[in-house]
Parts: sequence; structure tokens; C-alpha cells
Amino acid sequence: MVGRTGFILPGLNLGRRVVAGNVSRGVVVYSSMRSAGGRSVWRPSEAGSRSLSRTTMTATSVPVKEEKSLPPVKYLKDYAPPAYLVESVDLTFELDDPETVVKSKLVLALNPKGTAGDRSIVLDGDKGLELVEDSLTVDGKVVPSSQFELTDSGLTVFESALPESSESLTIECSVKSNPAANKALEGLYKSGGNFCTQCEAEGFRRITFYPDRPDVMSVFTTTIVADKEKYPVLLSNGNKVEEGDAEDGKHYAKYVDPHRKPSYLFALVAGDLVCSEDTFETMSGRTVDLKIFVREGDVQKTKHAMESLKRSMRWDEETYGREYDLDIFNVVAVDDFNMGAMENKSLNIFNSRFVLVSPDTATDADYNNVEGIIAHEYFHNWTGNRVTCRDWFQLSLKEGLTVFRDQTFSADMSSKGVKRISDVVRLRGAQFPEDAGPMAHPIRPESFIEINNFYTQTVYQKGAEVIRMLHTILGPKGFRKGTDLYFERHDGQAVTCEDWVQALQDANPEIDLTQFRRWYSQIGTPVVSCSTEYDESESTLTLNLEQSNPQPDSEETGEPLLIPIRMGLLDSTGLSIPVDIGDGLVENDKVLSLTKAKETFTLKNVPKGSVASLFRDFSAPIRLEYSDGQSTEELAFLLANETNDFSRWEAGQKLAANTVLGFLARDDDEYPEISDKVVEAYRAVLRDEKTDKALVAALLAIPSNRFIADLMKENDPIPIFKARSHLKKTLAKVLKTEFEDVLKATEDLGEYSIDLKAQGKRALHNSALDYLGSLREPEVMKQCLETVREGRNMTEVLAALNVLAATDSEERDLALATFYDKWKENNLVILKWLGIQATAPREDALQIVKSLMEHESFDMTVPNKVYAVLGGLSANDFGYHIGGQESYDFMADQIMRLDELNPQVASRMAKSLSLWRQYKPEIQEMICSALKRIADKENLSSDVYEVVSRSLSA
Ligand code: TRP
Ligand code: ZN
Repeated sequence: MVGRTGFILPGLNLGRRVVAGNVSRGVVVYSSMRSAGGRSVWRPSEAGSRSLSRTTMTATSVPVKEEKSLPPVKYLKDYAPPAYLVESVDLTFELDDPETVVKSKLVLALNPKGTAGDRSIVLDGDKGLELVEDSLTVDGKVVPSSQFELTDSGLTVFESALPESSESLTIECSVKSNPAANKALEGLYKSGGNFCTQCEAEGFRRITFYPDRPDVMSVFTTTIVADKEKYPVLLSNGNKVEEGDAEDGKHYAKYVDPHRKPSYLFALVAGDLVCSEDTFETMSGRTVDLKIFVREGDVQKTKHAMESLKRSMRWDEETYGREYDLDIFNVVAVDDFNMGAMENKSLNIFNSRFVLVSPDTATDADYNNVEGIIAHEYFHNWTGNRVTCRDWFQLSLKEGLTVFRDQTFSADMSSKGVKRISDVVRLRGAQFPEDAGPMAHPIRPESFIEINNFYTQTVYQKGAEVIRMLHTILGPKGFRKGTDLYFERHDGQAVTCEDWVQALQDANPEIDLTQFRRWYSQIGTPVVSCSTEYDESESTLTLNLEQSNPQPDSEETGEPLLIPIRMGLLDSTGLSIPVDIGDGLVENDKVLSLTKAKETFTLKNVPKGSVASLFRDFSAPIRLEYSDGQSTEELAFLLANETNDFSRWEAGQKLAANTVLGFLARDDDEYPEISDKVVEAYRAVLRDEKTDKALVAALLAIPSNRFIADLMKENDPIPIFKARSHLKKTLAKVLKTEFEDVLKATEDLGEYSIDLKAQGKRALHNSALDYLGSLREPEVMKQCLETVREGRNMTEVLAALNVLAATDSEERDLALATFYDKWKENNLVILKWLGIQATAPREDALQIVKSLMEHESFDMTVPNKVYAVLGGLSANDFGYHIGGQESYDFMADQIMRLDELNPQVASRMAKSLSLWRQYKPEIQEMICSALKRIADKENLSSDVYEVVSRSLSA
């Protein structure tokens, strides 16, 4: 799985290969991707050039050539400053259904830093924008049609229409659109009867003509006019400066946002909403009004979001010295949303599933997601809004940093170890495969076709790991000095990742970050291999470390990176001992810097039998290998004694994984016996009363499919799933009494509380239930059904439903029916009902998904439902892959249907197919054949085109 499998697709490596695509304009375009050394490579420059020769095979196999265009590739190296800056922008929205009119007035000035040349004004605008006749004026004068041009990508006003020379000029126009018909959920659209917007990354150009790029920052004034009865609440960024009634039963509100911002942070909401209210007193004593807007009836579900918001505001003051900068902060929940949430200045818009929680409708995981995402969007106010990105190649500047900030916030609010474990599980589960697949890109990409495709695991999660390493290298104080300088130096600017690193560097001149910068440009997951040698006469322990940087799609390895290794030493009795590499004793955690391809560290005064624990807290996003392996004894020792929660968990995972690998070496029917040492290690975990229960639950988790596949360097999901299930069942059988004791000891009879102790108790309870449920004993089945019926809280109910969903039992059918009946009016709960069925590991998963898509509760235009059902299926390690070609073809068909409605969502689904390279050859072939079906379709969006064509050319 690392890099390459050496497998080349049959029929695809014959020198010429047909890769399809299209452009939005209705013509299929084929381009042949040339093969390099028997292996085709993605060449954005070829695909990107405006006209490419079309090569299709006719029945007689004669290539036919035609000139057609492909969506252009954009390059970081081509960055040029904007020709014009926008001094101010004034917008008036006359909202209506089916026709909305947006009037705009931009005051433009030539950018002194712009490259001189033609003075014509080029504004971005989607091809769907309808310019109202004669509405385009420059300095009040109508621009005749001979002096401007409308193109697929915008509007150009020729120099001839501009005044001779003027410091600044005013350009006005009106555009019409139908927000209710907008199913792509980008720009201005309707959700649940309300108007809302989503502008990041390039959605503003679907609202009006504008230099829609983040390095153009302006002061926005927004007037909203709408029917007073249908849309009583009118919101936009900044402060409300005016409101009142208008003609024909309409009303209006006017907002001014005093902070200059890029267009992607613009937002507007108009609808029938109610709100919960609170206030926050900032560190300098200002009072901020906080409001969360939701549908009538949902107000009581906003409490946790509100508390999370206040905790985030306090934490950012205490941890980074960042204070909120307006007197008002609004959050709006909407049901139709492509992503999780959006950090629009003072008007965050959220997918409702990340705002609305109550004990009976949401799980503990939902509560934690709400807290994390509320924090994430709030933190963007400084990392993203006050200091923004120069261009979209710099996306990780705001996203990696903000993810790091929300991760540490959540860790501070809960258990650091458990939070770190879940962050790493996600990184390994989703980012590592991306970084080894056809879509691999550096955290700062160098090219893209569609920026929406680059809101990736790599930019977000690996980006956060890169920031975390900087924090580890500089230490908390050095890091804070760096962020202080960054905010001071760049407040109000649109900057680059370089600027960020430079600020940290300048604040910490004693540490050289030169080599570290490679993390921004190099792809792939580094591999660190380690061997140890103990010298008894000298009492030294030598660590021989090697790093390699495999590059997907290339035989060459990347350059060595600066890899911080947080480590500790335990003596043979399990006590922590100081680390001494000759630069002074370090009591507990020592950070080593691995900078070379090969490097040796010698630890002094190490008693015999000591164990070194490397990469505590997963201090770098790498794969660690031990050349001589790690013995069962050593892993069991670490599981019992390691003081670092993450490393303790990691040891347990490896211990279990080795057992699973042992099963996989044999046949289904003759799995070997499980070793007593492993059973005893698990018994000890189950009886551990000292450890926080949430951590115990994490320690009990069977290693994921990804964890095993990574060790095998190839993913063969069905046997891996079976072997993992066998481990679970075996442990449940041999440790039945222990699991039952845990189940009883964690029974929650009191009031629901989200405090950590209560959450830990539920997590452990559910883990024990999951083990015992795997034995399918009648009492446990009955008990699960009871739980679903009684329904004291959703965390408990869902765990029980999850056990049943995998079984073929009367209880399963009853539980699913009861649940649906009870919750059919609640969309968010129904997502769980859909998701649990789509992810259940069953042979008939594909059939189930097909019928779910016919079910009254399903709706292809609602992203949350698509993610629950199709996303659920693609995450179903067993049920998806057992369907073989039929499954992959089905997914391809759905992606094609979706692409007509919502390209962003379609593309996210297509990304799951793009990860084909991790699988064994037979599966690779099947997935690629499904991808080719998509490639053959006419009129693919540029989003899906980019993912599919890269997937097939890699
Ligand atoms: N910036 C948003 C976030 O933090 C991401 C986002 C929300 C987004 N909606 C989007 C990105 C639509 C692309 C398209 O996390
Ligand atoms: Zn973000």
C-alpha cells in the first residue's frame, strides 16, 4: 500500500489510454494520457491546455482527432496580484422565488502592485448569471454592449468604457437568478424554505460579478429586501445599521461589515427562524451578543452549541490572546449543506447536524462534533478571516492551523489521550490512503482544476499535523511567540504559508526551520524504521533510525524531512526513567530531531531491560516500522505500563493486529488459537479500574481495517474483516465474565449528562455490548431490542441498534421498524437510521442500500442523506466489497446521477473510488472499470472530471 503495488492495470497500460472528461458545455472530450515507462502519469499541463486533441477509438480502431477544450488547470507558480482592488462593495438583494435580483456597486481602484498592461476590468461570474439589460454602468454611464463581453467565466469591461484616468471608478450592475433551482448548494440557494449562501471557495461568482479571489479584500455593505411574513429574519455580515418596512408586504435590513474581507466570507440568510441568545464578555470587557438561529421547535437543542461557543471564545483569549472583534456573533443552522460549517464573518452557517443536539436525538460523538466544529469556525475568525489566504493554494494556511487549534481545544476540554487517538485514527484512515493514491498532493498543492476538490484530508488533517510538529519543535512558548508575531505582522492581510513559517522562524531565531519547510511541498507518508541495540557494559541503548519518503507514482524517494520524535524510556519494572542523549537529562518526554536519511541516537545510563517508546502522541505523521519487529512481550509491557495514552493504545493495537495477521496467514476455518499472552493483556485492560473509562474503551477497540491493511501493505477487505471479527468473537468468548462485569458496572441509570465521566462510562458500556453482541446470544439480542425501545439516550440506543443491524434476526427488524416509527419526523435522527443500515457488515448491504434509496426518507438532493447512505456504503469494509463489481458499478452510477445535481457531493463520493490503489489487484481492476464508466459520461462537472481523470491516469 505504500506508494505502489507494482500492479499495472490490464488493458490500461498499452501505451495509449483513453481518459475522458468534458467541459461543462456539453461535449465529451477525450484526451490520451501518455504513458511513461509503462505507467501513465498525470500531467496537468496536458489536460489543462485549452485545446487538446480528442482521441477516440472508432469501431475500426482508427483514432479520430477533434479539437476540444478541457477545464483549465491552475498553477501556484502562475500567481499574479489582482489588477484592481475593491475599495468598497454595496449589495442589494431583492430576494424572491423564483426570481431574485442582486444589485451591486463596486468602487474599484487600480492595484499599485498589479502588473501594468491593459486596464480592462475582468470580473469573475458564473455562466448561469443573467445580467439585466442596460444595468451595467461605469461611473453612472450605461456601458453599451460593444464595450463589454460576457464569457463562460465572467465579465470583461473594455478599456474603451473606462474614464481616461481616474483614481477610482464605480461599476454597477444587476443580475437575476433563481435560488430555488440551485441544487449545487453553492452561491445563493434555498434550504428548508429559507435563503442562504455558501461562498467558499468560489461561490460568490454565482451571486454576482466580482473579483472573486481571496487577495481582494473589501468593506461590504449589504441590503436585504424580502417578504416580511415569509422571511422575518434578515441577516448578513457585520452590524445591522438600518431596517424597516418596504412596499408590497416587504421589509428590509441593511448591514455594514467594518472588517475588510474577501468575497468567500460573505454570507446572507433570510427566513423564518427563531434564535437562542446569550452574551459573552471579552477579556477587554466588551459584551458580545451571541445568537443561534434555528427552525421553530429546535431552540432547546442549541444549548450545547452555545456553551461550546463561549468556551471557544474564552479558550482563544487564554491560549492565543485572541479576542473577538465585533459586538455580534451569529450562527445559523441549515439542513442542506455540502460541508460541516462555514466561517463567514460574524455569520457562521452550519450544517444543522453540527448544531442541534439533545440526549434523546444525538450521541456523545455528536456532542463532541458540535463542540469541535463550533470551535473550528469560531477560531477561523483569526486564522482565516483577520489573516486570510493569498490564493487557494494556501488553503492549509487557514485550515491546517484551524484544525490544529480545534483539536487542541477539544483535547483541553476532554481527555487529551482519547482525543489524540481519535485524531490519529482519522488521519491514518483517510489521509494516509489519499497520500498514497492518485489524488496525492502536498499540503500546499501546486496545481488544481477545481479548488473544491482540495478541501482534503491532506490539506486539513495532515496540515494540522504539520502545525502540531511546529508546536512540538518550538515548544508551547516558542509557538506562542510565533503566533503573536504572525497576527501582529499580518492582521488584515492575505498571506502565504511561507509568511506563516517565516513569522514562526523570526520569533524563534535559535531554531532553524529551513528543512522543515519541505513538509509543505513534499507528498507521501514518510516511513521511519528503527532498530535498537543495547550495550550492557556501557549501559547504552542505541537507536538506529532511517527515514524514507516514498513518492506515489515515482520510483524516487523524496528528500529527508525534519521529523520530531517525542520519546520516553521505561525501566524493566515499568517506571519512567530520564532520557540522556548527552545534551542534558530530560525527565520524561524528550524530543529528538531526525533530520537525515539515516541517523543514530545513543541513550546513556540505560538500565538493562528498559524499553524506549517512540513517537509518543504520534509526534509526526509517519509510518513507524521496527526492522526486527516488536515482541508480544514488549507490546504487552507497553500496553500495561506506558504512561503516554496514545502510545499505550498503539501498543495494544499492534498486539491485536499481530493476532489478526496470524489469522490471515491461515484459512477461515482453521484460524490458529489466540495466544494466552494476548488474552491476559486484554483481561488486564478489562479489569483496569485506574484508567479513565473512555481510554479503556479505546484500548478495547479492534484495530480497524486500515490498521491491518497498512501492515499488510495491501487491502483485501473481506478476509481482513473476517479475521477481525474472529478476534472480537474469540475475546468475547474467553473473557465473557469480564465483559459482563464491565457491562453491569457501567450501567447508567441516572440522568443523562455529557460530562466526561458519564461519557466514558457509556463508551465502555457500548464497547462491552459490542463484544458480547458479536456472540449473538438470545439474551443480549433481547436486551438490545429493549434498549432501542426504551430509548433513554441516543448513545445507548444507537449502540444497541448497531449490534442488531448486523444480525439476521427478528430483533433487528423490530428494532429498525420501532426506531423509524418513532423518529420519522426528525431528519437528523433518520440520518442515523439510514447510516446504520448502510454501514452494517452484511452480505446484502448493496440490496439494503438500493432499497433505502427508494425509501420515502431518502432524498438525493440533500447531502447529509447521500453521505449517510452512499458514504455509509463506501465505508462498509465488508458489505461494500462483498458486492464486487456490482457494488462499484452501482456507486459509479450514483455518482453520475449526483453530478447533475451537486458536483461537490458527487466528487466527494468519487474520491472513495479514487483510492483504488490500496486494494489487491482484482479489486483495483473492478474499481477502475467502474471509474471508466464515469469517465465515459458526457458533461461531467470539472469536479468529478478532475478526480476521475487523475484516478485513471495514475
Ligand atoms: N471553510 C469551511 C471550514 O472550515 C469549509 C467549507 C464549508 C467549504 N463549506 C464549504 C469548503 C464549501 C468548500 C466548499 O471548515
Ligand atoms: Zn475550516
